[in-house]
Amino acid sequence: MTIGILGLGAMGRALVNALVSAGHDVIVWNRTPGKDEGLGARTAASALEAIEASDVSVLCLLDDASVRETLAPIAPKLSGRLIVNLTSGSAQQARELGAWITGYGVRFLAGGIMAVPFTIATEGAFILYSGPRELFDEVASPLAPMARPQWVGEDLGFAALYDMAALSGMYGMSAGVGHAVRLVHEEGGDVEAFRREVLGPWMEQMFPIQIDGASPSETVPEEYNAQMQAVGLQTMIDNSAESGVPEALTGHLSANLWAMRRSIELTEGSR
Ligand SMILES: NC(=O)c1ccc[n+]([C@@H]2O[C@H](COP(=O)([O-])OP(=O)(O)OC[C@H]3O[C@@H](n4cnc5c(N)ncnc54)[C@H](OP(=O)(O)O)[C@@H]3O)[C@@H](O)[C@H]2O)c1
Repeated sequence: MTIGILGLGAMGRALVNALVSAGHDVIVWNRTPGKDEGLGARTAASALEAIEASDVSVLCLLDDASVRETLAPIAPKLSGRLIVNLTSGSAQQARELGAWITGYGVRFLAGGIMAVPFTIATEGAFILYSGPRELFDEVASPLAPMARPQWVGEDLGFAALYDMAALSGMYGMSAGVGHAVRLVHEEGGDVEAFRREVLGPWMEQMFPIQIDGASPSETVPEEYNAQMQAVGLQTMIDNSAESGVPEALTGHLSANLWAMRRSIELTEGSR
């Protein structure tokens, strides 16, 4: 199977490396020439040439606009081609792109990469795919060297939706740990010791509890004591201000405080 990779940024190059290492015939295209050096793949002179030479073409560009810009001039020539878009975007963008490009007879799958370039082709990496199941079954095995393939439904928007949602979890964590070390630093604490001896063990203890307890409900279970948590969260926000940390870095605490107050309001309203 010949696989086309369009987009040779940090991620596109990692995908090419994984496929070439697995012995695939890979043909690449990038808007700016010269990024194909040392990849061990064939180079196409245009996006159209790459797609026409490939059994499946993977797009890994910057954003939805760059995908549109690349495909728009050639879309009428792509009927019957199999294209997998791994460029990040919103769920609605994925659905609209799918509706547009399948209108030209393109067989289309949407995706979201749950990895960073240096974890591509490692055990923990996976890629979400959504769209027609039979297309996923066709590409899952050939594309597996990049990262474990995981289909999340026929709805073309779901790979992007799950991707965005999972990233929200990660950035929430990132905001929390970033704020935590800033707080310790501002007060002259030992950041290294705090990370190793306090933050790490604390996060490890709480991580499975957070994942198991994650819920779309607007009320928290009674045993989690929303009243107590609201008081605690306000203290954390006050402590942050007292320590001189910018208020903008406490957004994750404010979001939790809002959720606790909402839970209290709804629970009291139902009594
Ligand atoms: N890097 C990560 O950690 C990571 C993780 C998960 C998902 N992703 C997603 O993977 C995609 C690629 O990320 P990356 O890290 O490879 O980004 P990157 O290093 O910034 O590369 C961007 C790529 O998009 C191309 N591009 C930008 N605008 C274009 C346009 N108008 N027309 C055609 N090509 C255009 C660039 O081509 P030129 O060389 O010509 O500029 C380049 O190949 C993004 O959607 C990103 O969100 C990245």
